[in-house]
Amino acid sequence: MDFKIAVIPGDGIGPDIVEQAKLVLDKVGEKYNHTFKYESCLAGGAALDAVNEPLPQKTIDTCKKSDSVLLGAVGGPQWDHLSGDMRPEKALLGLRSALGLFANIRPAVMYKQLRDACPLKDSIIGDSGLDIVVVRELTGGIYFGQRGSQEGANGKEAYDTMLYSEAEVKRIAVAAFDIAMKRNKKVTSVDKANVLENSRLWRSVVCEVAKDYPEVELNHLYVDNAAMQLVINPKQFDVILTTNMFGDILSDEASMITGSIGMLPSASLGSSKLGMYEPIHGSAPDIAGQDKANPIATILSVAMMLRYSFNLEKEAKAIETAVEAVLEKGYRTGDIARGEEKAVGTKAMGKMIAELL
Ligand code: IPM
Ligand code: MG
Repeated sequence: MDFKIAVIPGDGIGPDIVEQAKLVLDKVGEKYNHTFKYESCLAGGAALDAVNEPLPQKTIDTCKKSDSVLLGAVGGPQWDHLSGDMRPEKALLGLRSALGLFANIRPAVMYKQLRDACPLKDSIIGDSGLDIVVVRELTGGIYFGQRGSQEGANGKEAYDTMLYSEAEVKRIAVAAFDIAMKRNKKVTSVDKANVLENSRLWRSVVCEVAKDYPEVELNHLYVDNAAMQLVINPKQFDVILTTNMFGDILSDEASMITGSIGMLPSASLGSSKLGMYEPIHGSAPDIAGQDKANPIATILSVAMMLRYSFNLEKEAKAIETAVEAVLEKGYRTGDIARGEEKAVGTKAMGKMIAELL
């Protein structure tokens, strides 16, 4: 089959890791008889430098015409002084919104080979590792609410509002429960219902949706408690369902438990098959272009692309198995290397995963 992929390398280590993900995809294509056609697009700082706007219309159009989108990372210190609408991050938020990608799926899986990279004690994590999915609402909440700044009685003030509609909560809750049905049938909904009105709405809608899934165990945690539970008892979680901002924070925390933020892929999905796939980490400008970045999160993101956008489960599994095989052989990029292991660069890591397919 033929697939059209819009590719947004972006900034910092974005181009380094995207190159390796394409290498792996090409190998999958060769082996399983698919053709992946890439169209490179500008977004983020790269777009600001080239055309003076973070998200050119052309990029949005290309993404909409494609079967899926592969994104590296955006942002960097040279664009930090820009105002909100001109920041590189605006490209990411704009794309999520323009493509209607309301469901962000972030699996936090700890490979047994990376046990030493996990900061938690044996008594907490044991040998059986960790397998959690964070389902983060991606096009609403405080990221997209009304905002502004103004002159107040005590000088300048600024505000961001957190708003959720019933419909927005319902569709992300349905996504989380559907995922739970294919896993261990447990959903933990994370909110701040003891303080926030929108969290109280969130909780009541989630309870309504739960009635359609009698087999799924549902519980609720306040976000502060959830942050704590993740480090004292992470094994209690199966699917974590949460808002845009809480999901941003908790997925970084979950990723570190697996050993490194360089390991976590993500899929951003909407109501069609078109999805955007990206690592959860940022652009790491300090190591950009130095062959140091861990490409695994991006490579695992293309596995998610094959699974969710292209229905190629066998091919997706093949990538995940190849990643595990490389780790089993003891190869590690700097972020996950401990002691005796064989440290390799971005390119060598990508090449080895492609070869092991
Ligand atoms: C993420 C990132 C983004 C977010 C930033 C870069 C805008 O942290 O995808 O988790 O906050 O969503
Ligand atoms: Mg984040």
